[in-house]
Amino acid sequence: MTNRLQNKIALVTGATSNIGRAIATALAAEGARVIVSGRDADRGAQVIAEIREAGGHADFVRADLTGDPSASAGLAADALALTGGRLDILVNNAGVYPLHSTADAGDDLFDLVYGVNVKAPFHLVQALVPALAASHGVILNLGSWVARLAVPSSPLYSSSKAAMEALTRAWSSELGPRGIRVVGVSPGVIRPLGSDPEAPHRSDTLMADAPTGRAGEAADIAAASVYLVSDDASFVHGTTLDVDGGRANVAVSAERDAA
Ligand SMILES: NC(=O)c1ccc[n+]([C@@H]2O[C@H](COP(=O)([O-])OP(=O)(O)OC[C@H]3O[C@@H](n4cnc5c(N)ncnc54)[C@H](OP(=O)(O)O)[C@@H]3O)[C@@H](O)[C@H]2O)c1
Repeated sequence: MTNRLQNKIALVTGATSNIGRAIATALAAEGARVIVSGRDADRGAQVIAEIREAGGHADFVRADLTGDPSASAGLAADALALTGGRLDILVNNAGVYPLHSTADAGDDLFDLVYGVNVKAPFHLVQALVPALAASHGVILNLGSWVARLAVPSSPLYSSSKAAMEALTRAWSSELGPRGIRVVGVSPGVIRPLGSDPEAPHRSDTLMADAPTGRAGEAADIAAASVYLVSDDASFVHGTTLDVDGGRANVAVSAERDAA
């Protein structure tokens, strides 16, 4: 721990599970006060208890981020009420990734995926721009390797994550001049929290073609996120960092099979 985020206040959506939880605890371990958000209050309580037991500062704010502007505005208002109106870091992590095909995707599924993954963070940013501009803050968006490397099982999800990459660039251009830095992190397949890092896991099969040949850990995304929201990355704008074991850019299966 290096206290890279001392005196910073962060809001992490979807912080009640896996990647968001790891990001929230990592930011807190670097000195940030973290607003943990999600729908599940029990898991939210566990996350803030873990952070507090480690000597960090955290509060839970429940929010169901459906994409309705009032839901995102409500989370923004509740978070700012706790922090006295200040926010330095927003992590748009909450996301859903139901498997589907184009043929069987109904309008409800379309609205669910785009509501949670695109509309909710869009409206959250709308609501929090004044606070983030005042603090010269940072927005970190979660993308995914499937935004750029096609897979057949989730066209709506893949395109929603491509939208977040595009928004990362668009917001960087639009909000950068107002003092807000906007960056993204694009995970490869990540194991659920608590799986044995030494033992093979079914998530590994989707990563067989990558240089790592295995899935990543939520901690891998958290470590990159700490860097991206810290002043160490103060010259990093509008880009999305692939933290995916090489999955989206490199294929090695032929060489591996031949070896
Ligand atoms: N896991 C991977 O392999 C992977 C790979 C690439 C990208 N990603 C991206 O990384 C992010 C986190 O993924 P994950 O695997 O950690 O997901 P996860 O374990 O399924 O957790 C999703 C989180 O989002 C929250 N959430 C879902 N719907 C919500 C809603 N309507 N309102 C508020 N919160 C909501 C959940 O909160 P509650 O549980 O409290 O409802 C939970 O905290 C997502 O954006 C995902 O697309 C994941």
